[in-house]
Amino acid sequence: MYKMYSNQSYIQISPLTEEDYLRWSGLLAERLGIIVPKERKMFLQSKIWSRMREIGYQDYSKYWDYINSGIEGNLEWSQLVDRLTVHETSFFRHPPSFELVKEDLEQKILRAKGTLRYKIWSVSCATGEEAYSLALLAQSVCKQSEKKSYFGVTATDVSSPAVALAKQAFYSIDKLSSIDASLHDGVKTLNHEMFTIKDAIKKRMAFGVFNLLDVNKPSNIKYDVIYCQNVLMYFDKSVREQILDGLVNHLNHDGLLVLGQTEINSWSHEKMKRVNKNRTLAFRLK
Ligand SMILES: C[S@@+](CC[C@H](N)C(=O)[O-])C[C@H]1O[C@@H](n2cnc3c(N)ncnc32)[C@H](O)[C@@H]1O
Repeated sequence: MYKMYSNQSYIQISPLTEEDYLRWSGLLAERLGIIVPKERKMFLQSKIWSRMREIGYQDYSKYWDYINSGIEGNLEWSQLVDRLTVHETSFFRHPPSFELVKEDLEQKILRAKGTLRYKIWSVSCATGEEAYSLALLAQSVCKQSEKKSYFGVTATDVSSPAVALAKQAFYSIDKLSSIDASLHDGVKTLNHEMFTIKDAIKKRMAFGVFNLLDVNKPSNIKYDVIYCQNVLMYFDKSVREQILDGLVNHLNHDGLLVLGQTEINSWSHEKMKRVNKNRTLAFRLK
């Protein structure tokens, strides 16, 4: 037992015992598919503890009971999930993958018989930068085309606080430098510190909380692009493969599945063929 000082008075912290570690890491694996190896036990302890401290808990078991208690427990769980997940992201984080989406949309506009309706899904959107990057890009391609075309971006994440921030779309002005100047007509500077995304683009977005572990549940919604980057690495290999197999069922004919380049190395699927583009890892529905 050791003591930690807060702005109220000192609070006793009990370290996460072996049994606690197994219980909490098991819950994370079961509900999120996320694996917390033993070397990261201190990470788990500090995240759970800091949340417990915020809401006045000092005992892991009592907090465990609270997390597992009906609707209130579910709401608290979503707060804890936000602490335990990594939301590092940026606009146009992996330029070659965005270039691939741009080329795909241009091609599909050219080939479309009538009006093209292009649907994109950013499956772990964190605070929204990836989803808005896709939207800014699609908006610019559609605008430049003589043919009529529409796009929509669905942005989901397992963390509801992250999704709420994504929806608000307030970003620090230094992030603007990652967005090519040719796309700046889609953003609005608010003051010398912040910018946001213009309503014309926000109107094309739909946000929601979604756990990738639920990807195999039946759904009729299909996308032309599924953009899934920097999330698979948190899962076990078998879970990664189940998620990817599930994502395939959400693709339209000729749809693209865009992954992070180093996130999986031996996945293949009978319905998918590898896209041959340098510095990307992407598959297309045959
Ligand atoms: C490092 S961020 C990546 C954000 C963005 N895709 C990018 O590449 O910049 C990882 C995101 O995955 C989300 N995540 C973790 N587990 C998830 C799950 N089971 N289902 C959906 N999203 C999950 C986290 O909440 C976090 O926002």
